[in-house]
Amino acid sequence: YFIYFLLFYPHTLILVSSYHQCLFPLHAGGQYEYILVEKRGEKNNVGFIQLNRPKALNALCDGLMREVGQALDAFEVDGDVGAIVITGSDRAFAAGADIKEMQNRTFQECYGGNFLAHWNRVSTVKKPVIAAVNGFALGGGCELAMMCDIIYAGEKAQFGQPEILLGTIPGAGGTQRLTRAVGKSLAMEMVLTGDRISAQEAKQSGLVSKICPVDQLVSEAVKCGEKIASNSKLVSAMAKEAVNAAFELTLAEGNRLEKRLFHATFATDDRKEGMTAFVEKRKASFQDK
Ligand code: CAA
Repeated sequence: YFIYFLLFYPHTLILVSSYHQCLFPLHAGGQYEYILVEKRGEKNNVGFIQLNRPKALNALCDGLMREVGQALDAFEVDGDVGAIVITGSDRAFAAGADIKEMQNRTFQECYGGNFLAHWNRVSTVKKPVIAAVNGFALGGGCELAMMCDIIYAGEKAQFGQPEILLGTIPGAGGTQRLTRAVGKSLAMEMVLTGDRISAQEAKQSGLVSKICPVDQLVSEAVKCGEKIASNSKLVSAMAKEAVNAAFELTLAEGNRLEKRLFHATFATDDRKEGMTAFVEKRKASFQDK
């Protein structure tokens, strides 16, 4: 039907294509405008996304987050990619949602268009995602990092939810994920005062798992990604699903889900290979099946 339609109304192709361009602004040649995307690691098995709006400290404008979503979609279906790293620059992971873009938005627009809902794509990716945070991770920047599965921080990183200073509150999961990560008192203090915490405080409170020298952060994050990617992608997705369930379910429900997923690994070739390799004293060779 679509081909028939195009035969008689060829101009629709131009309309569809320009609508697509407007939703997903791409530079000529299919390059992204706000992010750099490549594959890293010795085996090119780590998807790498670098936020690239340096003049705006990587403020997360709508176009940038749509591109992040597109890049994640592409890595999700790329059979070679076993983990994904998201990073910014040395100065800023991201200084939050784009305040200039938000300044004149109305409630009707926000509510009607479910403003920021598409950011959630970051937390629904099945493959493990690592945030490598140097510099500012503020507001939506901190929330973006917290949507990832693992956060590595550079020594000078700063985390904060300063929305209160703008007369608003976190809107991309900050009040929920920060509270679960660092506990009520510190989360309340950060959300109510807008004060930032250092990388060291973030490590102490459990928000980040590792602190690295600024210039080694990205390579350490990629190394972690390579380690993850060397395991079965299928089983990694199950492990990720099980850990994430701890944030959603009661202990009994979570344990039940874990048990079901654990049992399910016995239906995979990779579980058999992993245990056989151990018994045969050799390295496992996973086929993601
Ligand atoms: N949105 C838009 N532009 C931003 C921005 C943001 N969130 N953060 C920084 N910029 C821009 C600045 O406007 C400035 O641009 P111009 O040169 O055109 O003026 C440029 O980036 C450099 O910033 P500064 O001059 O302010 O740099 P600084 O070193 O003096 O300060 C900073 C750095 C402390 C991070 C400061 O820029 C700042 O406070 N930024 C805002 C942080 C913030 O409030 N984030 C929360 C946003 S709301 C949100 O994220 C809602 C949500 O929950 C999703």
